[in-house]
Amino acid sequence: MQHKPVLYQEIIHALQPRDGGRYVDGTLGAGGHARGILEACAPSGLLLGFDVDPQALALARETLAPYEPRAHFAQASHSALNEWLKRLGWDSVDGVLLDLGASSMQFDNPERGFSFMRDGALDMRFGVNATMSAEEIVNAFDESELADLIFRYGEERDARKIARAIVANRPLRTTGELVAVIEKIRPRRGDKIHPATQTFQALRIAVNDELGAVEKTLPQAVEALTVGGRLAVISFHSLEDRIVKEYFREQSKELVNPPYERIYEEERPARTKALTKKPITPSEEEIRENPRARSAKLRIVEKL
Ligand SMILES: C[S@@+](CC[C@H](N)C(=O)[O-])C[C@H]1O[C@@H](n2cnc3c(N)ncnc32)[C@H](O)[C@@H]1O
Repeated sequence: MQHKPVLYQEIIHALQPRDGGRYVDGTLGAGGHARGILEACAPSGLLLGFDVDPQALALARETLAPYEPRAHFAQASHSALNEWLKRLGWDSVDGVLLDLGASSMQFDNPERGFSFMRDGALDMRFGVNATMSAEEIVNAFDESELADLIFRYGEERDARKIARAIVANRPLRTTGELVAVIEKIRPRRGDKIHPATQTFQALRIAVNDELGAVEKTLPQAVEALTVGGRLAVISFHSLEDRIVKEYFREQSKELVNPPYERIYEEERPARTKALTKKPITPSEEEIRENPRARSAKLRIVEKL
């Protein structure tokens, strides 16, 4: 089942798309947010949409077909933003959206390997640019590398035990086999968060270099925005949210006396204004309709 995009109204309200504006959706997915943006900036506003996943891009193209002349598509990481803006000859944009992580379509397809609820291949690649699948990482990394990865990207306190159990049970080929190994260390208890959640999150982040992509894209987005233009980012876990929060805080501060480690930076005025002191989160009603929305956090800045 396809859900309404997370925080849909809030995103349209944040970006305030207007006729003639130029917008970027860095994570098209099924194209729900993008459609809202294209409708709101009709009749002449433009959108550049990215997705690394060819299946997602094909679906977004279908959703956005009625707006086709105003929509441009990039099967690429949003971290290639500058390159694509140059290609289109856009010297600035009026709004950028990043709705990070995996889509429900990806989670719901067992062949993609994102879900610990469905047995399938241990893949987890969003697109062809990922260099290693989850299966390769799980079977090739040594125990301490695996433990570090699960601890750092999954914030999993049993990372060492889980890494040891993975190594002892290799080769692991399917999500079901990995879940069984984790459940031996962390048995399932009632309706609490599934014990494999954090390990799966860690593998997905590593496979797709998710944090690296966000770190590369945020400065390009702020740079590309026109004065008054807005950048809206929805994140689904604390590591991602921390990167966004810290970047927005830093850009929204005047830089006087750059600290020693940033000596290469000139003093400068604040580049953005934070529009969300605290992140915006979905209503209870939205969470009831779409449980995946539960951990969503939206932060917005405006270019000064
Ligand atoms: C949460 S979904 C977006 C849903 C979308 N906003 C909608 O309305 O349907 C995230 C999408 O971002 C894509 N993605 C993840 N990392 C990406 C990256 N670095 N560059 C471009 N797309 C990425 C995923 O393939 C997925 O389709």
